[in-house]
Amino acid sequence: MARPARSRRGAMDRIVVEGGARLEGQVAASGSKNATLALMTAALLADGETVLRNVPRVRDVDVMLDLLAALGAPARWDDEEPAVVRILGGRVSRPEAPYDLVRRMRASFMVLGPLVARYGCGRVSEPGGCAIGVRPVDQHLRGLEALGAKVARDGGYVEMSARRLRGARFRFDVTTVNGTQNVMMAATLAEGETVLENAALEPEVVELARVLRAMGADIEGEGTSTLRIRGVEGLRPVDHTASGDRIEAGTLLVAGAITGGEVEVTGVEPRRLGATLDRLRETGAELRVGPDRVAIRAPERPRGIRVVTAPFPGFATDMQAQIMALLCVAEGASVVTETVFENRFMHVPELRRMGAEIALAGRSAHVRGVPRLSGAPVMATDLRASASLILAGLAAEGETRVNRVYHIDRGYERIEAKLAGLGARIRRESG
Ligand code: EPZ
Repeated sequence: MARPARSRRGAMDRIVVEGGARLEGQVAASGSKNATLALMTAALLADGETVLRNVPRVRDVDVMLDLLAALGAPARWDDEEPAVVRILGGRVSRPEAPYDLVRRMRASFMVLGPLVARYGCGRVSEPGGCAIGVRPVDQHLRGLEALGAKVARDGGYVEMSARRLRGARFRFDVTTVNGTQNVMMAATLAEGETVLENAALEPEVVELARVLRAMGADIEGEGTSTLRIRGVEGLRPVDHTASGDRIEAGTLLVAGAITGGEVEVTGVEPRRLGATLDRLRETGAELRVGPDRVAIRAPERPRGIRVVTAPFPGFATDMQAQIMALLCVAEGASVVTETVFENRFMHVPELRRMGAEIALAGRSAHVRGVPRLSGAPVMATDLRASASLILAGLAAEGETRVNRVYHIDRGYERIEAKLAGLGARIRRESG
C-alpha cells in the first residue's frame, strides 16, 4: 500500500500510556524536523529539483510542502521512496506566504530571505506569537533591511523588496536560529560580502550553511558566531540527506532514563545533543556513544540536578520540558531555568496534575522529586510539552491520557510506535 501522502492524524487524537514498563532496546531517530524546514526554504534559491532525504513524516513538513506549492514551487513527497521530498525551485509564480499557513507554522517566515534574494520581493504574513512566547521577527527584518531590502507592513503582512540585495556587516542583537538562517540564505545571492555577527551556532545552522555551499554559495564560519558570505550569481539544486533529529533523540533517551531502562538511539551524532548528554550523566545515567548513536543505561531513580537552557552548545530549550519530566521522579531537588523563551513552562500545571511537586519562581522551576507520579488525563499545549507528558506517563502509576496530541504530530514521527517498540504500553486513540 502506498504510504500516506501526509501524516493522516486526527486533530483530536489522544495518546494513552499505561505506566510502569522499563524501556529496553534500540530505536532509530527520524530526520531533523528543524534542519529539514530550513533546507526546504533553501530550495527556493535554486532552479531545478532539490531532493531531501531522511525527511521526517511530521505535520510541519506537510505544512511547508503546502507553502512552497502555494508559492508556485512544486513540492511533494516522493511516491516511491519513503522519507524523500522533491522541491522544484526557480518557478515561484506568487511570492506570497498566506496567513493561514504561516500562523500554523512560524518557520514559514524563513521563505522571506530566499524570496527577496531570488525574486526581488516577498510578502509573508507576520507569524503571531505562539504558546511559548511572543517570538518577534525583528532580527529577521533588521538583517534583511541591512542587505538593502525595503520593508512595508500592511494587514499583518510584511512585504520586502530589493532590486538586488547588497552585502553588509550586520550584528544580531539576539542569537536567533531561524533569523540567522533567513539572513544567511538571502546573503548568498547579495552583491558583495556579508558579515553576520552574533550568529547562531545550532547544528541546523551549520547544516544549512554546508548545504548552501554544496549549492554553490560562498560561505565560511558556520559553527562560529561570525559568518562570512560572498554573494554569487546563482545557486544549483542539491540532493541532501538530512541529519538525525537531535531533539527527538534526546526525548527517546529521556524515555529510557525515566523508566530506569536501557535504550540505544541510532541515526544521530552525539555531539549534536550538546549538553543534554552531560545533564543526563549528572542524573546518574551511564551513556555510551558511537559515531551515529547514543545508548543510555539508567539508574533505578535519577538524581536531582540544575539545568539552565541556553543557545547551542548549551542545554537546548527544546529539551527543557522533557528533562523536567525526568526530574519530577528524581531523588532530591532540581532547578530548571528557561532563559530562551518567556513562557515555556506550560507543561508544569499538567505535570502537577500527575503528582509532580514543582514551584515556579520567575524563569526557574523548583522541582522536588517524588517516588512515583500518578497517571491522569492531561492536556498537551505545545510540541515539547506534549512529549514531556508522554514521558511522565511512562513512569506514572496507572493510565495517562494525553489529549490534543496533534501538537506532538507536528514534530515527532510515530512517537507511540517508537516507544511501543521499546516496550512501552502506549496507544493512540482517535478523537
Ligand atoms: C528555532 O526557533 C526552533 N525552530 C525552535 O524549535 C527552537 O526552540 C529555537 O530555534 C531555539 O533553539 C525551528 O528551527 C523551526 P530563535 P527560532 O529565533 O529560530 C528571540 C521546536 O520545538 N527572537 O532562536 O524561531 C525569540 O523570541 C521549536 O522544534 C527575537 O527576539 O527561535 C527567543 O526568545 C520551538 N527576535 C530567542 O530569540 C527575532 O527576530 C530565540 O529564538 C527572533 C528571535
